[in-house]
Amino acid sequence: MKTLRVGGTIRAASDKSISHRALMLAAVAKGKSHIKNILASADVLTTADVLRALGAAIPPISDDLVVTGQAPRYLKSPAAPLHCGNSGTTARLMAGVVAGAGLTAEFRGDESLSRRPMRRVAQPLTLMGANVRLSAHGGLPMTIAGGPLQAIEWDSPVASAQVKGSILLAAVLGGVQATVRESHRSRDHTELMLSARGVAVQVHGNRVAVDAAQIVRPADIDVPADPSSAAFFVALALLAGAGELRLTDVCLNPTRTGLLEALRRMGGNLEVGERREEGGEHVGSIVARPSQLRGIDVSAEDVPSMIDELPLLACVAARASGVTTVRGAGELRVKESDRIATIVNNLRALGVDARELDDGFEVTGSRTPLRGRVETHGDHRIAMSFGVLGALPANTIAVSEPDCVGVSYPDFWRHLESACR
Ligand code: S3P
Repeated sequence: MKTLRVGGTIRAASDKSISHRALMLAAVAKGKSHIKNILASADVLTTADVLRALGAAIPPISDDLVVTGQAPRYLKSPAAPLHCGNSGTTARLMAGVVAGAGLTAEFRGDESLSRRPMRRVAQPLTLMGANVRLSAHGGLPMTIAGGPLQAIEWDSPVASAQVKGSILLAAVLGGVQATVRESHRSRDHTELMLSARGVAVQVHGNRVAVDAAQIVRPADIDVPADPSSAAFFVALALLAGAGELRLTDVCLNPTRTGLLEALRRMGGNLEVGERREEGGEHVGSIVARPSQLRGIDVSAEDVPSMIDELPLLACVAARASGVTTVRGAGELRVKESDRIATIVNNLRALGVDARELDDGFEVTGSRTPLRGRVETHGDHRIAMSFGVLGALPANTIAVSEPDCVGVSYPDFWRHLESACR
């Protein structure tokens, strides 16, 4: 069977979660924030436009961006609806900003985002004193009228950094105390970035709290590469037959590196090095080499730190020996697509033995060449995960709507081509 040789060094797209937050926090901090290497993807451009619609002076997005923020009281209610495109992070985090700044705004999104649940942010923001109206199915369009807020202690029914971030941003801008508890710890960029901007944040296990009456100070940041984007090339190198790939400047925040642990358990040959700390985040490089992989079980406690990488894990599992089972990942059903159905239907269309579980999936690996067409439903991570499988010379895979990668990784196809020798 023909195998793939990989080679080179890739600086994957900058981190999407950090980029959104860097813009929002710069907009509400009084003074100049310098943001280097922000991700210029569709989702982040959406956040920039939403902030501009609230009166924030966000210059055109560039690698070297200076944002001069005003205190939140200078933001204004927008005249027109806020269009959040495909971006759940924009809608949910900005819901907290609007509520906390005491503004009134209507949030809209594309077809995919309009299907996604917003009650998870509407409920806590309502309890804090905001007036929130959702569409009949509990999603967008959503209207939020902020006002004086009150303190909240929230036991989040879902481990979600978007929900946690929304509550913390509302509390900090609204000058009230907030505590959020989660069953499993979701990514912690909001708390790290607030803390780096002078806000007192207390973290105890899965509980995070901010005190009342905080101001956000401006801060400089160099955005590292997104581990969720670097992951595609780590997987590609493990599935290759020869060579190695080096991924540089990768954010190695422990709430984000679950996939690396899972790939190691599968037998993946990975080395993490050149570790350093930057702006409260661990950053380093990863070298990945061809490996003999075997199936593993992934359970609920592993899921939050690899939630966005589960489509890729499913694709890797299709080339591993034995069965991979993922459970406790019901959240995948409410991502940019129903990712459990999208993963399983597409794997099956290519000839892989895969089945849906209510809260996950089961994939049996094989070495049979994979052939067919993948329907991405416009979901960027589905396109890139199957793009990796399609780069293996034994497979012939067409991916629908390949441009949807622009949501998080506009250079993905170019980087993929450059990695394959
Ligand atoms: C994100 C949190 C996660 C993740 C998303 C980005 C964030 O969503 O899937 O891609 O930046 O806060 P949930 O909060 O819904 O788990």
